[in-house]
Amino acid sequence: MGFFRRTADEGRSGPSTPTDAVEATHSDPAAPDASGSPGPSGASGAPGATTTATPAPAAQRGVAARTRDLVKVFGRGDTQVVALNRVSLDIYAGEYTAIMGASGSGKSTLMHCMAGLDHITAGQVQVGGVDLAGLIDKELTMLRRDKVGFVFQAFNLIPTLTARENIVLPLSIAGRRPDQQWFDTVIAATGLGDRLSHKPSELSGGQQQRVACARALVSRPDIVFADEPTGNLDSVSSGEVLAFLRRSVDEFGQTVVMVTHDATAASITDRVIFLADGQVVYELRQPTPMKVLEVLTDLDPRVGAAQGSHAATGPSASAQSQGA
Ligand SMILES: Nc1ncnc2c1ncn2[C@@H]1O[C@H](COP(=O)(O)OP(=O)(O)O)[C@@H](O)[C@H]1O
Ligand SMILES: [Mg+2]
Repeated sequence: MGFFRRTADEGRSGPSTPTDAVEATHSDPAAPDASGSPGPSGASGAPGATTTATPAPAAQRGVAARTRDLVKVFGRGDTQVVALNRVSLDIYAGEYTAIMGASGSGKSTLMHCMAGLDHITAGQVQVGGVDLAGLIDKELTMLRRDKVGFVFQAFNLIPTLTARENIVLPLSIAGRRPDQQWFDTVIAATGLGDRLSHKPSELSGGQQQRVACARALVSRPDIVFADEPTGNLDSVSSGEVLAFLRRSVDEFGQTVVMVTHDATAASITDRVIFLADGQVVYELRQPTPMKVLEVLTDLDPRVGAAQGSHAATGPSASAQSQGA
């Protein structure tokens, strides 16, 4: 685990500004073979060898959401839980970012804090360049409505409304009409065109989650957060939802952040952020299922073993000995 400790420590200590906290994992001069090429050090298999030092393309470097030294504490005294411990993270516009980590590592809390759904204890959160701490409640409500979309594991559709009514509900509440062209574009991408008059109970799980995704996108938010959107779905439905989110990034230029436990799901994203104990401990660009499993296994051997036995062998074992 020495490898992860080093990465996490570099993110917090030293003279670097918090701005560089996560970037530090890219430019870590000590990381073996940061180019990602399968040279001798790469073959030795530290997860660091599988990251890329290549920053996001210039066109994608806009920041859709940002945290700086974000702290979230639940409870007090004996029952106090530090859910987020100085998280500094940039989410780049036009990218599909995955958040992974063991249960309880702070993934949902991070998403809620970034989406303005929960108050933070300390630090900073910005969405679309706006500092959430500076907003009064009404402004925060408007920001959530206009700039943020959220997709929950449990779909959270209104059972008495049709798919179409569910999708436009956030706009209806705001007294606005959907941009018809955008609505049609989103619906076409969901493949739900002939299901719009159906109630949620008449739709499959995958269809319901695509309705929820369309609802999150219909206001053209700056950023969409999806917290384990495929957690309740079979693999076919999961694939449909993941493909829809991927399309929304590639074809519509949306920004999507998704929590997932699934290495295959994470591998369709552009970048994977790993959390442990409320801290960002690692990130991968151009993830593959194998690379993701290697990092997961290093974080928690049980997780890697549960997802794929091949990940529990060689690479992470040598990574641990190398990092020790
Ligand atoms: N409302 C809450 N009250 C008290 N503790 C909470 C609350 N929400 C989350 N926590 C705690 O914060 C930590 C992070 O939780 P969470 O963000 O839900 O993790 P994850 O989504 O990675 O499973 C956990 O220890 C959890 O028990
Ligand atoms: Mg969670």
